[in-house]
Amino acid sequence: MTETTHVPTISLNDDRAIPQLGFGVFQIPPEDTAEATSLALEVGYRHIDTAEMYENEQGVGDAVRDSSLERDAIWITSKLSNRKNEPDEIRAAFEETLQKLGSDYVDLFLIHWPLPTRPGSDFVTRWKVLEEFKADGRARSIGVSNFEVAHLERLAAECDVAPAVNQIEIHPYFLNEEVRAYGESHGIATEAWSPIAQGGVLEDPTITRIAERIERTPAQVVLRWHVQRRSIIFPKSVTPDRVRENFGLFDFELTDADMEAITGLDKGEEGRTGPNPNEFAGPSD
Ligand SMILES: NC(=O)c1ccc[n+]([C@@H]2O[C@H](COP(=O)([O-])OP(=O)(O)OC[C@H]3O[C@@H](n4cnc5c(N)ncnc54)[C@H](OP(=O)(O)O)[C@@H]3O)[C@@H](O)[C@H]2O)c1
Repeated sequence: MTETTHVPTISLNDDRAIPQLGFGVFQIPPEDTAEATSLALEVGYRHIDTAEMYENEQGVGDAVRDSSLERDAIWITSKLSNRKNEPDEIRAAFEETLQKLGSDYVDLFLIHWPLPTRPGSDFVTRWKVLEEFKADGRARSIGVSNFEVAHLERLAAECDVAPAVNQIEIHPYFLNEEVRAYGESHGIATEAWSPIAQGGVLEDPTITRIAERIERTPAQVVLRWHVQRRSIIFPKSVTPDRVRENFGLFDFELTDADMEAITGLDKGEEGRTGPNPNEFAGPSD
């Protein structure tokens, strides 16, 4: 097990520092999550991104416990389920998260979606419960995911603690620039989910040409592009060679021209792969 890694950290607005590269476990079946996470820890990843809705927090917790690493050597993020609206159910769900992770704290806890159109749901109410978790130390940092500028402005106007991060869809086909730029100018770090668009950008000729020229893989080129834009990323893979490949981002650089060419692939709203946060209402049950 590697004790130290070469992954840089990004400073957050609460004076903490998050490893810029982590391992995402969305869509990894619960029964496979411990094995996948264990491999990621062996390779050197020290940041795992899970969520209540992924139903695999237990596997993440098992892998962390089974590793030879101290708990504080690993950054763990989880996210509040879209099904939880009332303060008491949020508190109970958070306790379950800690229990499944086998830890008395998470490094970062996020509101998963703002759900502005969900009946009975209010993200300000939910944020105030996350502020409790931050105050009692069980969530060392708190943040949001899929928040648009208007949602962030409402939090700024009505709440005490500013989100440390906003985790949003970003990849070369969908820059999500307005939201990213708002975060940058307001001290909210940007985490880019689906950083390779679940593989959807890897055959783009602009990307494959750069990859061939510098003798790296298309995934490494795209992930390195995120790194140089100072986004926090956590690509997901259950394929051991890819888990290793996605970790090899810190011994090469893209030129300004390469960076610009990849940024130029943005398709605007058409490039979005996930739901639009202004419309998404979460599960119906
Ligand atoms: N907050 C949110 O609403 C939200 C939404 C989506 C995702 N996320 C987070 O972001 C993380 C990453 O996003 P994601 O899982 O949607 O997508 P992603 O990381 O962009 O892509 C994952 C997909 O790409 C494949 N892949 C990974 N590395 C590859 C490589 N080097 N070459 C070719 N293919 C490769 C994987 O296949 P194999 O696994 O088969 O190797 C998998 O199908 C998630 O795991 C989750 O933690 C958050």
